[in-house]
Amino acid sequence: MSSFTAAPEESRGHRLVDAHGRTIRDMRLSITDRCNFRCTYCIGTGVRFAPKGTLLRTDEFARVARLATELGVQKIRLTGGEPTLHPDLLEIVASIREACDASVALITNGSLLTPATLAALRAAGLARITISLDTLRPERFSSITRSLSGPAAVLSAIEHSIAAGLGPVKVNAVLLRGVNDDEAADLADLARRLAIEVRFIEYMPLDSSGAWNASLWVSAAETRQAISRTHPLREVAPDDPSSTARVFEFADGAPGRVGFIAPVSSPFCGACSRIRITADGMVRPCLFSHDEFSLRELLRGGGTDMELREFLCDAAWNKQAGHGITSAGFRQPLRVMSAIGG
Ligand code: 5AD
Ligand code: SF4
Repeated sequence: MSSFTAAPEESRGHRLVDAHGRTIRDMRLSITDRCNFRCTYCIGTGVRFAPKGTLLRTDEFARVARLATELGVQKIRLTGGEPTLHPDLLEIVASIREACDASVALITNGSLLTPATLAALRAAGLARITISLDTLRPERFSSITRSLSGPAAVLSAIEHSIAAGLGPVKVNAVLLRGVNDDEAADLADLARRLAIEVRFIEYMPLDSSGAWNASLWVSAAETRQAISRTHPLREVAPDDPSSTARVFEFADGAPGRVGFIAPVSSPFCGACSRIRITADGMVRPCLFSHDEFSLRELLRGGGTDMELREFLCDAAWNKQAGHGITSAGFRQPLRVMSAIGG
């Protein structure tokens, strides 16, 4: 575990703020590091998962969620790995909702979601869902995810999520050059057909095999131009002011929107309001943190609510200014995205 500077007395234990003047309002809570996919840009095939005993339990997730909301967090996004693999997902959502009044959303690959699960999630208090889908072509889907799944199950999960009232449903897509970068317009068509927001996320250097390189990377600007050739776009103000996406509607008035999240070409670190907790209870102030702080030790070592709140504040205070992906000294974090939680 890393050592860190304590937060100043006036905020310590009361408010999640960092040394760069940012306020933390959004928590990504990874509930498992396991995943049924092995997306090439995310998880290597030889990945090692955390021992089961180190993963937080439902009551611990709920306690962390409550403490975070006491410190100003308003949104909690449950992620993984693949959060729908967790046998107690419903109970986790319900316990968090009982423990605090934050809105709870789910980020998932959608492959395991059935209409019954979606209805149960909604009944448990889930507010929203975001589903990842990088390609509409079955063979590509298998080769990107290195799984036997296909886009049909995910498309059906998207439609059922809308029907279950878990909207606004968003779809996340990562385009890689020479792999699926010719599908920007097709994915924009999906947004139009289902009246949802499809968001294109620039490929970030977070994969475990270190495969990231500039030749695979596709800029948000290029993706936007590719879509505009088929469907001219008009920029709109995002619903959420802390949103990291630039959002566009279709100039012909069709329903649906496309968003562009450009962490590499236009870093939004200055406006970042996030903190991440890994499934094994480590606080990661930034996706690209090299430091992480073991909340689990304190949770399991009899830490009081105040001690835990102070610890969260100290971890937040030490959030780095930015990821520095394009700077010369950039080093990729050791944990992969699946273990950090998107
Ligand atoms: N670069 C960009 N996005 C990534 N995701 C996972 N790994 C990467 C990466 N290296 C995305 C997933 C998912 C979201 C949580 O993060 O596609 O939609
Ligand atoms: Fe793919 Fe998400 Fe699983 Fe990573 S965590 S392998 S991005 S589905």
